[in-house]
Amino acid sequence: MCQERSSANRMNNCNREGVCCGEMQMVCLTDFEEYAKEHLSKATWDYYAAGADECCTRDDNLLAYKRIRLRPRILRDVSMSDTRTTVQGTEISFPVGIAPTAFHCLAWHEGEVATARATEALNTCYITSTYSTCSVEEIVAAAPNGYRWFQLYVYRDRKLSEQMVHRVEALGYKALVLTVDVPYTGKRRNDIRNQFKLPPHLKVKNFDGVFQQETAGPEEYGIPANTLDPSISWKDVYWLQSITRLPIIIKGILTKEDAELAVEHGVQGIIVSNHGGRQLDGGPASIDALPEIVDTVQGRIEVYVDGGIRTGSDVLKALALGAKCVFIGRPAVWGLAYKGEEGVREVLQILNDEFRLSMALSGCRNVAEINRNLIQFSKL
Ligand code: FNR
Repeated sequence: MCQERSSANRMNNCNREGVCCGEMQMVCLTDFEEYAKEHLSKATWDYYAAGADECCTRDDNLLAYKRIRLRPRILRDVSMSDTRTTVQGTEISFPVGIAPTAFHCLAWHEGEVATARATEALNTCYITSTYSTCSVEEIVAAAPNGYRWFQLYVYRDRKLSEQMVHRVEALGYKALVLTVDVPYTGKRRNDIRNQFKLPPHLKVKNFDGVFQQETAGPEEYGIPANTLDPSISWKDVYWLQSITRLPIIIKGILTKEDAELAVEHGVQGIIVSNHGGRQLDGGPASIDALPEIVDTVQGRIEVYVDGGIRTGSDVLKALALGAKCVFIGRPAVWGLAYKGEEGVREVLQILNDEFRLSMALSGCRNVAEINRNLIQFSKL
């Protein structure tokens, strides 16, 4: 018998009378969010939840999906359904991958190794963040058959970026995701208030030992401040192409002008993203930016989207508006906080099930049948 529904017994499902009814059933992604909020330290929760400034863009990422209405088709024999798709020519089991997010060991002791195992098990794409608390070698060893892309920043010291590129190429990563929306880090108020810092037992493992000399100086999110190069420009895309044969995907595009430049610079993909609202506050919700980018790109390269995806019908809406695949950031971390690898698997499985159901209820039997006719544009 529970006295109260305290955070300590949230894993148990207690009714209003305080009677425990076994383990809490995780039904949707917000259940994982609630769990994470109650169980993570305040500084860690705040770090994961953070948006920039007033969090308008972060919040709009979710609201924008809720504004979109669907036009379901009926009587189309949806007794069989197929959620498989391909990204960059590789088949994945459904069109949801894991966006790069930093510091998974803050949520679960095994960190990115658990995330990698979960994505391998579900046969989808895991974009490993540069700011991982496990090294890329550890990640690959833990899930040798996983399909992975590596997220890259460009550093003032280009050699550092170059070494990272060669390292992940040798490890079998299949694409580089160049994040372009962080010339400087956005202002995340709670991180400043909490003086957010990685605890001493954790580090940005990919750079273990690299910054030893500089550690006396100010640090920002686990590496010395000013390591990122704010002078990065389109010519650096050519530089990156000159040092790798991997496909390059640019993450952080929000306008048709930049989408056109990306195609002209010969990259292989775009992730329409506002970094989960953690960078420029006041920019568009990523789903609102997607249509103009899809219209500009005209199928010349693949377009993906992240930010605010919390349900299977969000996935359906993004695909209907032209995304080839979507990526989830925070929900994966909530899954980790819940139960490590198993938690991330559950998050992905719930999204997969919800997506399959939304497809069927709107008359789609496979992802090729999802198109803009599903969207009620008069409501937008
Ligand atoms: C991020 N994001 C991010 N992006 C990136 O390119 N490199 C990174 O290291 C990180 N780190 C990171 C940490 C945390 C805690 C969050 C929440 C986000 C952005 C991420 O890839 C993605 O764009 C958003 O998280 C997508 O929004 P949702 O799914 O979190 O709403």
